[in-house]
Amino acid sequence: MALPNKPMGELPAIDNPEIVEHDVDVLIVGGGMAACGAAFEIKKWAGDDLKITLVDKASMERSGAVAQGLSAINTYIGENPIEDYVKMVRNDLMGVVREDLIYDCGRHVDESVKLFEEWGLPVWKKDADGENLDGSKPAPTLREGGTPVRTGKWQIMINGESYKCIVAEPAKTALGEDNCLERIFIVKMLLDKNKANQVAGAVGFSTRENKVHVFRCRAALVACGGAVNIFRPRSTGEGKGRAWYPVWNAGSTYTMCGQVGATMTMMENRFTPARFKDGYGPVGAWFLLFKAKVANGLGDFYAMGDAAKEELQKFMPYGASAVTPTCLRNHLMVREFIEGRGPIYMATDVALNAFLDERREAGMDEKSLKKFWKHLESEAWEDFLDMSVGQAGLWAGANIEPEKVGSEIMPTEPYLLGSHSGCCGIWTSGPDEDWVPSVDGSRAHQYKWGYNRMTTVDGLFTAGDGVGASGHKFSSGAHAEGRIVAKQLVKFCRDNDFTPELKQSAQELADEIYAPVKLYNQHVGASTAANVNPNYCKPAGIMMRLMKATDEYGAGVATYYMTSGKLLGICMDLLQLLREDAEKMAAGDLHELMRAWENYHRIWCVEMHIRHIQFREESRYPGFYYRSDFPNVDDENWKCFVNSTFNPETQEWLCEKVECLNIVETDPWL
Ligand code: ADX
Repeated sequence: MALPNKPMGELPAIDNPEIVEHDVDVLIVGGGMAACGAAFEIKKWAGDDLKITLVDKASMERSGAVAQGLSAINTYIGENPIEDYVKMVRNDLMGVVREDLIYDCGRHVDESVKLFEEWGLPVWKKDADGENLDGSKPAPTLREGGTPVRTGKWQIMINGESYKCIVAEPAKTALGEDNCLERIFIVKMLLDKNKANQVAGAVGFSTRENKVHVFRCRAALVACGGAVNIFRPRSTGEGKGRAWYPVWNAGSTYTMCGQVGATMTMMENRFTPARFKDGYGPVGAWFLLFKAKVANGLGDFYAMGDAAKEELQKFMPYGASAVTPTCLRNHLMVREFIEGRGPIYMATDVALNAFLDERREAGMDEKSLKKFWKHLESEAWEDFLDMSVGQAGLWAGANIEPEKVGSEIMPTEPYLLGSHSGCCGIWTSGPDEDWVPSVDGSRAHQYKWGYNRMTTVDGLFTAGDGVGASGHKFSSGAHAEGRIVAKQLVKFCRDNDFTPELKQSAQELADEIYAPVKLYNQHVGASTAANVNPNYCKPAGIMMRLMKATDEYGAGVATYYMTSGKLLGICMDLLQLLREDAEKMAAGDLHELMRAWENYHRIWCVEMHIRHIQFREESRYPGFYYRSDFPNVDDENWKCFVNSTFNPETQEWLCEKVECLNIVETDPWL
């Protein structure tokens, strides 16, 4: 008899799981920063008469993008005008953003940061002499007027290894532990049987018990992060699980909302971060706090000087900006690699020694210099230890002394997200304010339709990575956005009294979700190795096939992010075949069942990504991806959103251009 898939560890899946049905008013899907923001805030507005339930595929204490911790909060407005924040985001994302959503996030984000500090997150402060008190010494809080250690204009440093635990606890407390269901993977959102275009529930399964959970709800927030492991990663073999963004983010937000007809926006956008090679360690603190520069293999600081400026000008329709957009910083790096001047180094040695020289020149004695150096060194290591332990391990294992040698950095595989330096996602209503433009047409063209951050589907909201065309909110902005949505969810329930009814029976839904299990159990005896079978394919193989298609044809690392209409066409054909074969995915245990459904989510959201890149006939984000057939930024034809809508009735896609309107002054652009 064939060996079971995983003899130890995972719970084998059975053919007929128990079905549990839930009736709630508000369903929060996700448990990351945005969902925690919503959970923390919602009871203030809801009172006790609304039943609110949060469902997380993992454990809220360590789920989402912030699970591993962070060493900085990248959005804290503080002393800056909110308009400047809008301009920064607009510039970084090459001009095509929803300024209303960004402004709205900007005016709420600092409150989230102040709350984090009150909940116990150590925020670095400056002392009276301007020296860094890195979280360990008492200092006035942000609310009391303490001065944070700013690295850039928007970023502040924290001791953030336990950031997510600190944020999850008050979220759980506010909502009530019993209302937070963990280890349940939601597979799809469900539309109402009687009311068109109205969300009515969701269905998922436990990753710890053989149970399917069916939810009926009147309003829902879907905040399940972005998409990772959709392109072949640079890491190989045993290290393949290593990625920059959280490996468990499977594009569920985009797929689950898109499938019920929510209009998507800017799905062509992606984030291709430059990170410390192999460990994916963060670069922000090195660039901003330590003022490090990047050098090519010849030792040239290629990103400075006239040649770099000239190259950048080709892609900057609005002229040079104070901070080069992230994609264009990547572009300069990619060019060095393509032209054979790699590897690229973060000159950590030059940066750290410059700090020491500066103090020495100012007359600091040797003993104090030593102490200062210890402090600096610990800050450098902590940057990794707070948020990317693997990188610290790699440095230790490779005997790296950052003051003596630089470390390689590399553009990674692409990710889909809407909260970091990317902006793909779902088209949502902006706040109901006079300064948000009123536009005629369907919701796919409008900027507001009553409920802030509601998608084009009634009662279906999103936040964080889910909200498109408004990047650079980061962890704090995602939390603030969750708080914004909380109030709107309650308003929607109060305004719209209806009883949700699902189109399918609970048993039909359970059968659909457990289909990979039934297939496995039916055929597992046909071969001697459970992973190789003529009747089914396994999730791991399907994921590799997806990665190969996107990598080679969809502008992955294999082609240095280059694609074309021809290559994209092949990619779409491969995805179509993959979708057909994926129907034969089999799962022997609950972990594998999750992997199977993650694959379905990944394939769907990648298809949206490729479809959008096909539609946008220009290269809006050089350095993130290029179209060889349309290599330029073409503002005349493409300074607009690309929105797409899937019709769940007809199964047809509509891709269209949507006007991009500026709200914040454009003169000066920045
Ligand atoms: S992190 O999440 O992994 O820490 P990252 O290292 O990219 O992110 O950057 C953190 C912050 O620094 C972001 O606000 C990003 O825009 C900014 N940043 C990173 N590198 C640079 C740079 N070279 N110049 C200006 N800003 C930068």
